[in-house]
Amino acid sequence: MEVIITPDPAAAALLAARQIARLVREKPTAVLGLATGSTPIPLYKELIRMHREEGLDFSRVRTFNLDEYLGLAPGHPASYHRFMEENFFSGVNIPRDNIRLPDGLAADVQAHCAAYEQAIRDAGGIDLQVLGIGSDGHIGFNEHGSSLASRTRIKTLTKRTREDNTRFFDKPEDVPHHVITMGIGTIMESRSVVLLAYGAGKSAAIVGAVEGPITANNPASILQMHPDAKFYLDDSSAGALERADYYKWVFHNKPVWQADR
Ligand code: PGA
Repeated sequence: MEVIITPDPAAAALLAARQIARLVREKPTAVLGLATGSTPIPLYKELIRMHREEGLDFSRVRTFNLDEYLGLAPGHPASYHRFMEENFFSGVNIPRDNIRLPDGLAADVQAHCAAYEQAIRDAGGIDLQVLGIGSDGHIGFNEHGSSLASRTRIKTLTKRTREDNTRFFDKPEDVPHHVITMGIGTIMESRSVVLLAYGAGKSAAIVGAVEGPITANNPASILQMHPDAKFYLDDSSAGALERADYYKWVFHNKPVWQADR
């Protein structure tokens, strides 16, 4: 796990966007795992800018999103289909057929989840998974207590996550109780992971994930076991880290050959 502490969200998003752009240039058929929420928005803005101004080409990229609310149609204003369309897909040139999200209206949820896992395998696996982190340490919608080996499945949201996400809905009672989410085992199979976090509201989750024990009580802590996980943090979300000075020291003293990786 590499912890990169930046002055603000824009700086964190810029570094993460550069990592993704490097991958897409080196492997134009890259498979990206994508996330929703407030956190990835500056990352998507920067990738759209790179596409428009620097010709970053997504025409052969394939994507799989982490999760979707059960019961929401793709056109629902709070659905993650709609979020992705508005915040990323409409600004880049990923062919529609290359985009996959869990289907919130799946009639047979279990069969749909199994097919989603198979589609990821058929695509050759995910090269890079983008993650936010919940204020309770969840990744995707893998709430605390989720099996660290879980696969794509239905989950019941915690009260806290429903409250955190109320801002995307007209009324608190409109937030669905259930979601389909990639599992933690699914996420761990991604070849690389980029986790972004900003703001003091995430600092407890981050300290648990980075410096706490590996535990299902903080699902992001399993990323300590991932061979290529980078955490791009702003100063506030990194505020509670005991070894913050060391992480900064490591970043600023990288060997030249490693500095651009
Ligand atoms: P946020 O959500 O980016 O809206 O803070 C993150 C998450 O719940 O994973």
